Amino acid sequence: MSVTSSDSASHSGALEGSSAALEGSNAQRGLWSSRLAFILAATGSAVGLGNIWKFPYVTGENGGGAFVLVYLLCIAVVGIPIMMAEVMIGRRGGRSPVKSLSLIAERDRLNPAWKLVGAIGILAGFLILSFYSVIGGWAISYVGTTASGQLTGQTADAVGAIFSGLLSDPTTLLAWHTLFMALVMVVVVRGVRSGLERAVSILMPALFVLLLIVVGYAMTTGHFGQAVAFLFQPDFSKLTTSGILVALGHAFFTLSLGMAVMMAYGSYLPKNISIAKTSMTVSVIDTGVALLAGLAIFPIVFANGLEPGAGPGLIFQTLPLAFGQMPMGSLFGTLFFVLLIFAAWTSGISLLEPIVEWLEERKGMNRTVSTLGAGIVCWALGIASILSLNLWADFAPLGFVPMLEGKTIFDLLDFFTANIMLPLGGLLVALFAGWVMSREAMEKELALSPGMFNLWLITVRFITPVAVAIVFIYNLM
Ligand code: TRP
Repeated sequence: MSVTSSDSASHSGALEGSSAALEGSNAQRGLWSSRLAFILAATGSAVGLGNIWKFPYVTGENGGGAFVLVYLLCIAVVGIPIMMAEVMIGRRGGRSPVKSLSLIAERDRLNPAWKLVGAIGILAGFLILSFYSVIGGWAISYVGTTASGQLTGQTADAVGAIFSGLLSDPTTLLAWHTLFMALVMVVVVRGVRSGLERAVSILMPALFVLLLIVVGYAMTTGHFGQAVAFLFQPDFSKLTTSGILVALGHAFFTLSLGMAVMMAYGSYLPKNISIAKTSMTVSVIDTGVALLAGLAIFPIVFANGLEPGAGPGLIFQTLPLAFGQMPMGSLFGTLFFVLLIFAAWTSGISLLEPIVEWLEERKGMNRTVSTLGAGIVCWALGIASILSLNLWADFAPLGFVPMLEGKTIFDLLDFFTANIMLPLGGLLVALFAGWVMSREAMEKELALSPGMFNLWLITVRFITPVAVAIVFIYNLM
């Protein structure tokens, strides 16, 4: 049986057909070429809270420059090759991730246990979405905070108090978390893709422009140089082994790797499109947004004498200050948080979608039942993260493990998913591509020059697995 010519042709063939049709006139799928459609969907998944909320705060917590350098290295050496591998496996299998892996395994007479890679991913996505939605809720709450004008001319203390006020209020947090999860479920239940692509193509550039506006304001604070130095002058004395683990984990998190999302999207990618180029484009955009967010936030941190290592609240304690001081700040601030919600929304959808597809495929549930089921369980788990911010703030269930000391349920979910499960999923993907899949099939899928192909193969065979293993082992010791 040939996966390429029969199975996946019927699957991605539909997309190729429609993209050919749209070159003529007004086709039903919208205005995007297929390459653009994939880039939009993948960028929508990759660019999210990871770039704007998480990147600045983990950078601040881990001392800046040296951490950023390791993160950039992880993107280049581990992230991009693994994204290529995921997209390639997805396109070759032409099905949902679990199916793709078992189809390829079956075809090449491999151990069917490889489909476990897909299963780990689905569990990771489920756990991530539970706390992701809570942070998405913070963003929703800040639309009202900025729009009301109450930030205008506020001091750092007052802005900090508004944020602590939000965290200490479980009912409000629950309301916004519920709204965010409902937004994600509404899209997933309908299986809408094209509307999403259109939204991403307008909203992502808009978010980029707004970030540039904040960077422009940040340049006037007189602390821009200090922020640039903080972000780009590596001071290796500040780099810890756990910082390296966080940088590696974050590279997976921010590129949406390690849980087979890119595999799922790759199954829709037409055969004639370059996997390397598209993966590179998505990664560059994603990294660009994160660095811009850093350049927007750290000048404000230094100008106001705030603590770079303030933790998950960092953007909510700094950006509102900027919006309170700059001209038309309420307008820009409101727009900014609306766009942040959209970025988080498209990422949230990509976290729920694979779970729903899996339930449909494996358990034979229809889309409505599987979306409601998965969404509601995930929502309920999110309540544990909400309580970690207030009533359970001192509850560290695994505090007896030195490395996990003081970590709340929310911290633990973040730690285990981003720093353990995603790199592990990525490691398995690298091993699958590097050692298991047929070289011939991969050469055909990637269509690289022989030199580039070998470089990629060496990376997924040796460099990625060794890098992930070293980081894991060091952190266990
Ligand atoms: N990459 C997204 C962000 O940076 C989060 C995300 C969406 C994700 N889908 C994912 C992370 C899949 C890991 C795996 O906000």
